[in-house]
Parts: sequence; structure tokens; C-alpha cells
Amino acid sequence: MPTEPHNPLSTSVEHRSSELSLRDENLHLREIIALQESRITCIQEIGVALGSTMSLDDLLNVIMEKITVLMQADRSTLFLVDRDQDALWSKVIQGDQVNEIRLLIGEGIAGWVAKAGQSINIRNAYQDERFNSEVDMRTGYQTRSILCQPIRNHKGDLIGVVQVLNSKNGYFSDADENLLSALASQAAVSIENSMLYLSMVDKNLELTETKIKLEKKIAEVDFLYDIQRLIGQAVDLQDLLQLVASKALDISEAELCAVAIREKEHLRLFSLRHEEEDALRIFHASLDDGVCAMVIDTGAPYMTNSSQDAVLAATGLHADGLQVRHIIAAPFFSDDRCIGAVKLINKRGADGFDDDDMKLLTLLAGQIAGAVAAILSRERQEKANRLATIGQMLSGVIHDFKTPVTIISGYVQLMARQNDPDIRKEYAESVLKQFDQLNKMTREILAFARGESSILLRKVFMRSFAEDLRELLSRELGDRGIDLQMETRYGGAVKMDDVKLKRAIFNLARNAAEAMPDGGTFSVVLDRDGADAVLTFSDTGQGIPVEIRASLFESFVTQGKEGGTGLGLAIVKKIVEEHNGSITFTSEVGEGTTFTIRIPTDPDQDD
Ligand SMILES: Nc1ncnc2c1ncn2[C@@H]1O[C@H](COP(=O)(O)OP(=O)(O)OP(=O)(O)O)[C@@H](O)[C@H]1O
Ligand SMILES: [Mg+2]
Repeated sequence: MPTEPHNPLSTSVEHRSSELSLRDENLHLREIIALQESRITCIQEIGVALGSTMSLDDLLNVIMEKITVLMQADRSTLFLVDRDQDALWSKVIQGDQVNEIRLLIGEGIAGWVAKAGQSINIRNAYQDERFNSEVDMRTGYQTRSILCQPIRNHKGDLIGVVQVLNSKNGYFSDADENLLSALASQAAVSIENSMLYLSMVDKNLELTETKIKLEKKIAEVDFLYDIQRLIGQAVDLQDLLQLVASKALDISEAELCAVAIREKEHLRLFSLRHEEEDALRIFHASLDDGVCAMVIDTGAPYMTNSSQDAVLAATGLHADGLQVRHIIAAPFFSDDRCIGAVKLINKRGADGFDDDDMKLLTLLAGQIAGAVAAILSRERQEKANRLATIGQMLSGVIHDFKTPVTIISGYVQLMARQNDPDIRKEYAESVLKQFDQLNKMTREILAFARGESSILLRKVFMRSFAEDLRELLSRELGDRGIDLQMETRYGGAVKMDDVKLKRAIFNLARNAAEAMPDGGTFSVVLDRDGADAVLTFSDTGQGIPVEIRASLFESFVTQGKEGGTGLGLAIVKKIVEEHNGSITFTSEVGEGTTFTIRIPTDPDQDD
């Protein structure tokens, strides 16, 4: 086998040079692999980083940082599009400071890319007329190569621009372009996610705020509903203000709630303290002293949480012995006239009242205004009738006195003629018993006069009561063409406050008359059932409207009447209950109505 001539030198030279180029190649390959490895690691890091933050600023920083490393660049900037301003913006972190830079679309390299929607790869910035060298001049930076690409979302809309400066290799290659383009689309997804997330956070915040507002509104409506219900239960001012103040103390967490009513010469002050929630105290105060007086005078609400405030120092009696730290007060009006004010003192366990408390108090003031005005006008009407009522009552009382006095005088005459000491003793005991009776009656009258007892029970014969009623009602009904029928099936004695009971029956008769505008019949039957006296009152009127039947006896329930206050039946019920009695009704629309009152004939059973 022929062999090729051997040139040991040439072989050795070739061998060396190929060894050299192999080593170079090897080195070069290793470099490339190392670069690719670092790029892969970087890309992985980018993936992790992009997935780990939802804050847009953090996200943009991570993207910029990673892109700079990956592109072997000096720095990079990521601009987002602001459609409203037709601009690009970016945040640049310099030390601890975050500065925002803005460019108009079309301005500078990034602006050009945003406008054209194309990427550019510039080897020497200063030779490109689109480059704006002002920034370099300002910062002292020396821009050489630039790679700048648009960032698009999945729909292809432009959402930003990424710009990398000064490749470590002198300029950016085609491979760099491809890599940046891949990175840009990865970044686009994260940026869009983050913006979506942020807008959801905003929406959520909005929803939470709306929810809180809604909850507050519901609490207000609940409060107003409660107040309305309490107003419905109250018949007189004291009753009303006790219930309302107690509710207000619960809700507002105040130490004291007071309502002031403006009278001619003074303020009538109803004051309730948190520790004594069932003891409403009533004071008379001067018209120019205290925060209520001021609020009534100005007609404007007032709030202070400052102990330096002069208003707090001047409260004296109005604070009911409390050391005042905070006050809110709101006026209330009837027919545009300020008739009173409601105030809260000292928020329990807090630094003071806030706007929400003030709002609640203003709502409360508005809510009770109508009820207070109606009760005040009733009170005035009652005051006007008072003398007549007292006169009526006294004549009845004097009449009742006659019976024991006659009996006493009878026994005394008998005693005078009797010598037997045992029989005299018996007479003396009978006399004493009558004195006891007189004493008891006197005590009852005094209690009534002092206002300790709301009714004055007397023994009244139904027969004479029926006569009084006939006189009272025939006058009222006769004028309106209504026929009055009275039937007394039981004429015996019943313990009652006849003056008050007459007033109750008068209210029933007036309602009946109002239900029979074209005339009809009003029938009264006085009867007895076991230990109860039973009084029934029937009319042939239009019947009670179905809608108000369930709450008929509550205050301020009225229907179909001009100027009706809706207190009539509430007062009737109160009077009946004071007699330990009950009241019920049946009614048929278009047919008529019957009210039945039952009261024990002798509620005390002790004489
Ligand atoms: N006998 C009746 N027939 C039909 N409806 C009645 C009768 N009695 C009461 N009502 C109805 O009940 C409502 C409440 O009566 P209530 O006496 O409490 O108030 P008012 O008559 O409206 O006002 P006021 O306070 O002036 O008496 C009346 O508005 C009326 O609609
Ligand atoms: Mg009425």
C-alpha cells in the first residue's frame, strides 16, 4: 500500500494551528454556553420575579433590572403608554428617590417607536436624528447604542416601549433583537396582569367603601325605625322622652342624653343618664343658660370635644352633675319654629363625638320633632281644660264624702242614746271604719293632686254614670244627626276614675261620629260580666281601615282625617289600662265598629 510522503514539519505546523483553533473554538463555545446558561438562568429568574409581585412599580423595576443583565446592556428603561395624555411614562429609581420621566409620543427614540410601532436598533445614537441628546447633557451619561422595541398585549395593542442602552459588545445584534422581543412579550403579560389586578384592588376598595356606607345607612334606618316604634308607644311627653333618650344612649354610647323644650319663661329639661336608664329627671332651666339654650337660640347644631370650650364650663345644671368633656346638640323644629333641642354629653370610652354621632343626633331630632309638637299641643289643650276638669272632679269627690259623713253622723247619734258600753264600742268601731274610708279617699285625692297617681278611683254607680254620659254625648252627637242609644243592663257600683273614663268614651264617640259623616247610630251598653264591668260602644260607620288595625292603639296612627293626630285611641287605651282593664274592637268595612272596654268593678278589692 503506497504511503504519502511525510512532511513532519508541515504536519506539526498544521497540527499546532488546528490545535490552536480548536482551543479557541472550545473557549468560544464555552463562552457562548456560559452566556446562554446565564441567559437561561436570567429568563427563569424573570419568570419567577414576574410571577411574584403584583405591584406595578416593583414589577417594572424587576423587568428593567433583568433585561439589563440579559441584554448585556448598561441600562434599560421601560415606558408605559398613557393614552389620556398621549405620552409615555416611566419610573426611574435613583438611590432612594423614585423619579418619573415623561415623553410625548413621537418624541425621542422611545416616542418614535411608540408612534411608529416598529423596533429600532441604533449603533451610534449621536448619528441618529431621532435621538435627543438633552438627557445625556443633563445627566452626563454617554449614550452609544440603543435597542428599542414596542411592547404589545395579547390583542396587539401597544402598552409600552422597552429601551436598552449601550451593549457591552459595542452594539446590539440580531440575536439580541430576538431575545428582547421575546422578553417584551413575556413582560407584556405580567404588566397587563398587574394592571388588571390593580384595577380589581381599586374596584374592591370601592366596593368595601360602598359596603361600609351601606352598613351605616342600614344602621341609621334601623335606628329611625326603632325611634318611630318608640314614638308609637308613648302617650305623653315624659314617656316619649324616656324611651327615646334611652335608645339614644344605647346607640351613641353617651353618658347623658337630654331633651330641652322651649317654654314661655324657661326651658323644660328632660335628662337621662346612662347609669340610671329608667330615671328620667326633669328640671326647669333658664332660657339663656347652657348648650341647649344656645342651640335653640341659634337654630344650628353644635359640637365640641374640647374641655377648653366655654360652653362646657357653663353647663352646670344641664350636665346633671357630670364632668363634661364632650357635647353635641341639635335643634328641632315645628312649623319652622325651633321648639327644642336634644343633646348628648360625654362619649363613653372615646375621645369625643364625631360627625357620624352628629348625623345620628340630627336625624333623631328630626324624627322626634313631630311627636313632641303633637304632644305639646295636646298638653296645652289639656291645660285649658284643666280647671273645668278639677271642678268636675271635686264635685264628685265631695259627693263621695257625703256617704261616710252621713253614716258617721248616724252612728254618733245612736251612740249618744246608747248606754251599753259594748254596743257603744261597736258603734265607735263603725265610726272609725268610716273615718278610715275618708282618710283613704283623702290620701287618694292628694296623691292625684300631687301627680303621684294618674287616676283617681271612686265608687261610681253605673246608673248615674249613664246619665252623665247621655248628657255629654247627646250634645256632641245630636248636632251631627247621629242617633244615640243607651242601655244600662248593670246599674251598680264600679270603682273608676269617672272623669278620665268619660274622656276616653268621648274620644270613642268622636271617632264614631267622624266615621259617620252622613249620620247613623251610636249605641252604648253598660253591662257586667262576672267581676268585670263591660262597656260597649258601637257605630254604623265606615269601619276601621284594614291597614291600621294592627297598630290602631299606637300613638300617631291616623287615617283619612284632616288634622287627626292619632292620639285619641292611644289615650283611651292608656286610661283603660290605668283601670287594670282591657279594650278590644271588631270592625267591618262599610258596616260599623264596636269597641269593648272591660274594667274590674273593684280593682282593689279591699273595702
Ligand atoms: N269608630 C271608628 N270607625 C272608623 N275608623 C275609626 C274609628 N275609630 C278610629 N278609627 C280610625 O282610627 C284612626 C285612629 O284614631 P285616633 O282616635 O287614635 O286618632 P285620630 O282620630 O285620627 O286623631 P285624634 O288624635 O284627633 O283623635 C282614625 O284616624 C280612624 O282612621
Ligand atoms: Mg280620634
